[in-house]
Amino acid sequence: MLHERRILVGVSGGIAAYKTVYLVRRLIEQGAEVRVMMTASALEFVGRQSFAAITGHHPATGLFGADSVSPHTELAQWAEAVVVAPATANTLAKAAHGISDDLVSTTLLATTAPMLFAPAMHTEMWENAATRRNVAALEADGHSMVGPASGTLAGGDTGPGRMAEPEEILQALDRLLAGRLSGIRVLVTAGGTREPIDPVRFVGNRSSGKMGFAIAQEAAACGADVTLVSSATRPAPTGVALIEVETAEEMAKSVAKLASEAEVVVMAAAVADFRPVDAAGTKLRRSEGIPELQLEPTPDILAGLAAMEQPPYLVGFAAETGSIDRAVEKARTKGVDVIVANDVTAEGSGFGSDTNQVALIDRRGTVDRWPLLSKREVARRLCDFLADQLQGRTGDG
Ligand code: PMT
Repeated sequence: MLHERRILVGVSGGIAAYKTVYLVRRLIEQGAEVRVMMTASALEFVGRQSFAAITGHHPATGLFGADSVSPHTELAQWAEAVVVAPATANTLAKAAHGISDDLVSTTLLATTAPMLFAPAMHTEMWENAATRRNVAALEADGHSMVGPASGTLAGGDTGPGRMAEPEEILQALDRLLAGRLSGIRVLVTAGGTREPIDPVRFVGNRSSGKMGFAIAQEAAACGADVTLVSSATRPAPTGVALIEVETAEEMAKSVAKLASEAEVVVMAAAVADFRPVDAAGTKLRRSEGIPELQLEPTPDILAGLAAMEQPPYLVGFAAETGSIDRAVEKARTKGVDVIVANDVTAEGSGFGSDTNQVALIDRRGTVDRWPLLSKREVARRLCDFLADQLQGRTGDG
């Protein structure tokens, strides 16, 4: 995949820059054409000659005084993909805010090529609210992250912040360029449905839509043609067609309309299982006494999909509160291809959080437990999983 691809490597100032020399060598070995650009701080960690010797080109280090009159636009337009490794907190911050005060940041602003950042910094800097915001902004803009991993950091400290290993960065780059779900139509649902009691009140749940939106965003970043049916009100991720609904009934209708066109349906929405039988047409008044709510079941969307003559690849979610035994049973009996079970009572998992701890359960009941990850990372891994599964299904890879 990297053969004859034009890869621009941005190096910013961190000790992990020594690993970038090896990354560049591996890129060259894979047949990529590589150019390197370095910040002034990067030059404190590795010499320009190391990159020149490997790539056959002097790394670009400044906006002025170079052979080219406009090195930033030249590199920006040349690149098919940009990898920033290591990406320091400062470089991430500049990229997130469009600051362009040196060659690397200006080129990042000038390019339309997909960008992959391999962050590397001390744990405190990685976990700092400002860095969290900057990473979230870059991801929301459609850029990708790889790592950081946990391990030994500069000065002998340990924790998250270590740059991903070169091989992992290569794989991430491969995915970025391959568009692993390219041409695949993916339908995702998100959010908690709202079942009206009267014009101002509803029966609802705590779903924020973050999990489903992350899946839609990541699937689109992998080249899929994505439609998102959501009962959560959030801005549509780049490249995703958003259909807003409110109730389980509306979601069921939208999904039914779109499902036959989709190759994959991911039901991340928390669909209400019950709704009030008759929603009042006018606001219920306290003075009228306590209303008696009678509930009836909503359509089971997932069951409807599983009953289709030619169902798409079906991903159900299961919100569990403790053991995942029930989810394992569902995976075996519900006719879905895979269930993503999350314990919604576990710390940092389930409703509303930015992280999630999930287990993937296939039709045979085989369980693959993933660690606590950001919802974006869960989405990323799920898309990788889907790409592998679909390849197995069509046998075209
Ligand atoms: O939105 P967030 O705040 O990010 O939270 C994410 C999440 C916790 C909502 C998400 O990770 C999740 O678990 N979604 C599914 C929640 C749920 O409704 O679980 P369930 O076990 O009740 O339903 C099982 C499956 O059936 C789900 O795929 C659900 O979409 C589907 N379902 C449920 C009821 C119904 N009437 N029709 C359905 O299709």
